Amino acid sequence: MPDVESTILTALSSGPDATIPDSFTFATTSNLDHNSIVGTCKSLQTDAYVTLTERSTQFYVLGKEAESIVKDGSQEIRVLSALIAAGTDGLGMPELQSSVGKDVCKIGMGNCLKNKWAKKDKASGKLIAAVTELPTDDVKEQLVALKSAASEEENTKCVDDKAAAALKRRKLISLITRKSYTISRGPSYAPQRVKKAADLTKEMLESGKWKDTQFKEYNFQTLGESVGGGYLHPLMKVRAEFRKILMEMGFEEMPTNKWVESSFWNFDSLFQPQSHPARDAHDTFFIKEPAETVSVPEEYYERVKNMHEKGGSGSIGYRTVFERKEAMKNLLRTHTTAVSSQMLYKLANQPGGFKPARYFSIDRVFRNESMDATHLCEFHQVEGLVADYNLSLGDLIGTVETFFHKIGIKRLRFKPAFNPYTEPSMEVFGYHPGLKKWTELGNSGMFRPEMLAPMGLPKDVRVIAWGLALERPTMIMYNINNIRTLFGHKVDMGMIKNAPICRFEADEEEEGGVAEEAKV
Ligand code: PHE
Repeated sequence: MPDVESTILTALSSGPDATIPDSFTFATTSNLDHNSIVGTCKSLQTDAYVTLTERSTQFYVLGKEAESIVKDGSQEIRVLSALIAAGTDGLGMPELQSSVGKDVCKIGMGNCLKNKWAKKDKASGKLIAAVTELPTDDVKEQLVALKSAASEEENTKCVDDKAAAALKRRKLISLITRKSYTISRGPSYAPQRVKKAADLTKEMLESGKWKDTQFKEYNFQTLGESVGGGYLHPLMKVRAEFRKILMEMGFEEMPTNKWVESSFWNFDSLFQPQSHPARDAHDTFFIKEPAETVSVPEEYYERVKNMHEKGGSGSIGYRTVFERKEAMKNLLRTHTTAVSSQMLYKLANQPGGFKPARYFSIDRVFRNESMDATHLCEFHQVEGLVADYNLSLGDLIGTVETFFHKIGIKRLRFKPAFNPYTEPSMEVFGYHPGLKKWTELGNSGMFRPEMLAPMGLPKDVRVIAWGLALERPTMIMYNINNIRTLFGHKVDMGMIKNAPICRFEADEEEEGGVAEEAKV
């Protein structure tokens, strides 16, 4: 394969006026692809090695029917010769058709009549030749001339305009316009291209080579490559929104950057019995290595153990043996409530003692669930809690309502539920006007005295808390009905790049509600 660039430059080397008249014919004669000639010329043009002038060349090409005329003659001549051969009796349609073929007969007959080469005998309906000698086959000759023209210029000149128009009308030929370039020397022409340096280097400065190095000019018009990164996943967009809302409500973010927890913090500190089914390997991912946590606050541990075994603060406890081995097991946290528990323990034991606090977190939790369209083994939990003196169930309902109202869900219902660590407990339902139904959004409750007392929180401190999966509202907002579309290895990166910011739109109705569809 010859080098396109040097082929062009060499072709222009004969003198200052050397030109390549037509890049297309040049491509054909040099056996090169025209597109690559044009591409290389454009690149040479930017360095002023060549000057390009656009040109367009027109010429006629023969269609399929024209090719058969070149071979066998025009339809009218073929019909006429059949008629002359038939003599004065002429030929009926069926004979003519079987002699020259149906298509040739149709076109040829019409043209013979038009040229007055033949006439129809009224009585017999037969076609009879009106001439005795075959005239010249002009159409064939014109087509042969077009086909065998030595150049495009000759091609357009060998047939006069009227004849060409007639051939075009018969759809025998069509006019083609070909775009190409005339290539001539540019102001910086050289038979060989010197690659311009893009950078001034230390070596050039040291050797002095910079003095006669040709440098590429800066192109201030060029646009940077499109940036590939920096997109927030829809879940992270919703997280950012929720985080802002919670901060506005005076909540402080808990440190949740630790996925591995001990069973002690994940379950025991929350007064979840050691025999609870959720503590089974079928529901929880236990860590094999290291299988056990290094330490727990021992004094607190004793108080928790005591609460489980014997009770206190008005509770009779579970009255079962509390096993250290069970408490020390490491696991992937099943809820961020494990972190809430640690934060409350810290709050109770901080220098200066307990002070009221509002905490929230939005982070990953893991559960050994069977996966389906709405469940994966991990999700993001949004969790909030308020610890203060003498809080009531009314405070919990009010706080949860404020939060959900702020995220755009206006119609809420609370349903009594059970959690080992809260009493009372309430599931939170939101009305979805699009689906026209109430859907479960989260869970809430007041932490039990059995959980709070061992931490050392003052007796009349109450803690209200709630939790929900971030995926739930995100899927509703983005109109996604399969969790795998949102999260995991099958997620389409394009979806992440193009995902708009979605919010629940306040409903027109007086009562308000969640958005009918995801809205930007
Ligand atoms: N931990 C609960 C869950 O996993 C959520 C919750 C948090 C419930 C706080 C009540 C209070 O669903």
